[in-house]
Amino acid sequence: MSLVSAANSGGGGGESQQQLLWAPDADASPSYDPWSDPRVLEELEAREIPVLEELTSAQHVITVDGFLPAAQAAELRGVFDSRFADPRACHPERFLWDYWHVPDQYTLVRTQAAVYFPDDLYGRLEEALLSYGEAALGCRAISPIWMSYYVDGCLQELHCDNPHGPFAFVLSLTPTTDWSDREFSGGETLILQPHVLNYWRNYDPRKGMELQHLVTRVPSPFNRLTVFDPRFPHGVREVRGTKDPRKGRLVLHGWFTEPAPFFDGPLDAGEAEVALNEGLEPLWEALEAVSGLITGTLIARLNISGADGSVTELSWLADTLVEVPNHDRAAADALLEERVLPRLRALVHNEARDCLLGLSFPAAGAGRDTKLTFPIVFE
Ligand SMILES: [Fe+2]
Repeated sequence: MSLVSAANSGGGGGESQQQLLWAPDADASPSYDPWSDPRVLEELEAREIPVLEELTSAQHVITVDGFLPAAQAAELRGVFDSRFADPRACHPERFLWDYWHVPDQYTLVRTQAAVYFPDDLYGRLEEALLSYGEAALGCRAISPIWMSYYVDGCLQELHCDNPHGPFAFVLSLTPTTDWSDREFSGGETLILQPHVLNYWRNYDPRKGMELQHLVTRVPSPFNRLTVFDPRFPHGVREVRGTKDPRKGRLVLHGWFTEPAPFFDGPLDAGEAEVALNEGLEPLWEALEAVSGLITGTLIARLNISGADGSVTELSWLADTLVEVPNHDRAAADALLEERVLPRLRALVHNEARDCLLGLSFPAAGAGRDTKLTFPIVFE
């Protein structure tokens, strides 16, 4: 891409207007980012147009290895193994499975974890996922947990789970800690890479691409939690090889839902929420302008001083914000009005940071700090 500063005669008035125009360079790389190009930055600086920096990187996949305490993961796996231990044994638990086949879309064998596992074991599993969802993603609920196994021929073709919640999860009980030692091929979660969804913007006629350049393949070794943005087209690579459920891919899966502020510490959540809602009004006003131009979820973590209620620290736990194509139209309109629309992800980050760091909560006493996990959702 190149930055061209061109004199342009205005409409009926005939006055000369200065415009910024970007045009593709023959040698631009697919990952070209105009907002990091020194020529662009110089030009903007000369015109006294501030350039906001992105404060967090978009992250559409998060993995946590060793998610459950080892004994708990082994106990869950043990229930599954014991019920399949003797293929000739006949007991009621053998019949809890649904062979789910939607032609050309899904083929797998599934059950509801709440029905399959003893209550206590299921309760601890749900608790572990809920605690993680609240603390790391600001989601206060999860959907009912499914459990699915994949043997030879099982797969999920590409699909999107837009209505289910901001984050999907897959917790693996597949019996291998080293993925390359598994007794089947395939079985990875496939997630289309962000640049593919922006294909023509990044198009390079000199470069071919193969599967690895188009999708992220996430292996599911034992006890790995994979969290991803389910709006991205995703699926499960066909499992080939084993026909034995005990050797196939086994996963617990569902969605983290109901994003909402989560307080962890001595601060009274009711009082804190009142302070939060008042303090956030300027942020909602500032973000009104980008409504419809950006979509996704931004999760902030705040440390609130117990002594005086001020915010002493801010970090970002997850960021799935995407600028939607309407942004191009808005940017073009802005250019015609001699404005430059700031990078929207950066704008949201900066507005959120400024507002959140300025929040003031009641003092909690006892001098202990409170952590707030705070999700900002753009639909
Ligand atoms: Fe899905």
